[in-house]
Amino acid sequence: MNNLKEKIIVMNWKCNPTSISDARNIAVISDKKKIIICPPAVFLNIVKGILKNATLGAQDGYVKEGSFTGEYSLKQIKNIGAKYVILGHSERRIIFNETSEDIAKKVITALDIGISPIVCIGEKKKNNLTSSIKEIITQMEKSLDGVEAIKAKKIILAYEPVWAISGGDANINNARIEDIEPIIKAVIEKFKKMFGCVPKILYGGSVSYDNINTYIQNQYIQGVLIGSASVDKNKIKKILTIIKN
Ligand code: PGA
Repeated sequence: MNNLKEKIIVMNWKCNPTSISDARNIAVISDKKKIIICPPAVFLNIVKGILKNATLGAQDGYVKEGSFTGEYSLKQIKNIGAKYVILGHSERRIIFNETSEDIAKKVITALDIGISPIVCIGEKKKNNLTSSIKEIITQMEKSLDGVEAIKAKKIILAYEPVWAISGGDANINNARIEDIEPIIKAVIEKFKKMFGCVPKILYGGSVSYDNINTYIQNQYIQGVLIGSASVDKNKIKKILTIIKN
């Protein structure tokens, strides 16, 4: 039987909430062991001051400091206390035009300075299995290009089919476990070939109280990445009851 205690829950607040008091409240409720909380950069320091059990993560970070107006660097988030950083989220790839090559540079820098990257990969559209696997594997190869095998153990992959993200309560977008399991297995095999070690892999995309068990109980999935539900106090409380059990 799978040990649920070993599973990782990443909470990706995205660009939420609006106020400091809401950020504080959400952090207090979510402060449990095995949870990695990734607030927007503006709240990193505030959330850090609250967490006693959960671990701090960030949602992005640039490769260096200097004349890069509007950016914040991986070293800066590390110095604030982030132990993890989400890189290559589909919203960064699609809305902010980040390429897999940009992401690879960030992954290499994060590993060099000692932050564990949570690298997101996922197909854009629902497709047949062979095409989806091809798209995802190519994306992973490019996003991890130049990573040294010795450092690859620190990488966490997050498989997030883009079409399954932000489905909300209707749950219409949920990926079925029988559809994603072969993809996850193919990703693991490819990663093993690339780096000689087995990656930790999370699932993300409309994870909610109603479906979290399906994912975290799967033997190939080490945890979940939760977006919208991670800033909704009632949803967080419900999800945490499952994790506790
Ligand atoms: P969602 O987001 O849970 O709102 O689908 C997941 C993500 O984008 O990481």
